[in-house]
Amino acid sequence: MAERKKVTVPDVQARKGVEKLTMVTAYDYPSASIADEAGVDMVLVGDSVANAVHGLDTTLEMDVDVMALHTAAVARAKPRALVVADMPWLSYHTSKSEAVLNAGRLVKAGAEAVKLEGGAKRIEVIRAILDAEIPVMGHIGLTPQSVNAMGGFKVQGKESAQAYELIEDAVALVETGVFALVLEGVPDLVAQAITSKVAVPTIGIGAGRGTDGQVLVFHDVLGLGGGHVPKFVRRYADLRSQAVDGLKRYVADVVSGAFPSEDETYHMKPEVAAGFTSEDSSESVDSRS
Ligand code: KIV
Repeated sequence: MAERKKVTVPDVQARKGVEKLTMVTAYDYPSASIADEAGVDMVLVGDSVANAVHGLDTTLEMDVDVMALHTAAVARAKPRALVVADMPWLSYHTSKSEAVLNAGRLVKAGAEAVKLEGGAKRIEVIRAILDAEIPVMGHIGLTPQSVNAMGGFKVQGKESAQAYELIEDAVALVETGVFALVLEGVPDLVAQAITSKVAVPTIGIGAGRGTDGQVLVFHDVLGLGGGHVPKFVRRYADLRSQAVDGLKRYVADVVSGAFPSEDETYHMKPEVAAGFTSEDSSESVDSRS
């Protein structure tokens, strides 16, 4: 089989209006290699790792150290998919130079592009990161790092004034040079208006079907998480119940003695075993010492 070509930022840009783009989050080596084998175009080391992996309610506790650790694990899978890493809250809000250094840390960990949240107010910081030759993906609409400012995880742009503001934000980000734009938690009409107005691909999550691509959280698509599943998620597998079932059978086999079997056990050579008795060992092992 011919080796599939590595996906680059220009490849993603060239797909606008040609073929829909696919992105899924990945937070570690196995999720990245599974996503890559499935053929996704981009893996996002999202700060949603806070919820999906670390069991937190918001993404606000993530920092660059944590994001770099997960990015490095994803990059070790050497995915064909483009590796995009989320810049965590406060890693790009304090100064342009700090933002560039933090984006650089994610690139050194293996990211090929970074994503950050916010509209026109991020122009200066995005320009600085682009000047350091690091591609930037924008993210507007329901931006989870703004949960406190938004008063909760609420769909954005439901009223006309806010919808026009989102369109202005999208245009400003694209004029600054983002190579793609995530639209999260916005009405389909707003996502469609932005998609037809900007020259870069839009990637939707809870934004309807009119975007240039879609992104979902790995644990949501595959049914790995427990608890509430948002309306926009479609589950393509139920791995959690398969995992629980598998582990229940393991527990039962250990308790009954059915695991491990002879085949799953190391043995001495028969001639060594014949002359071996545990009494021969010079010192007895005392587990209390
Ligand atoms: O962190 C994340 O998973 C994201 C997606 C929801 C776009 O930012």
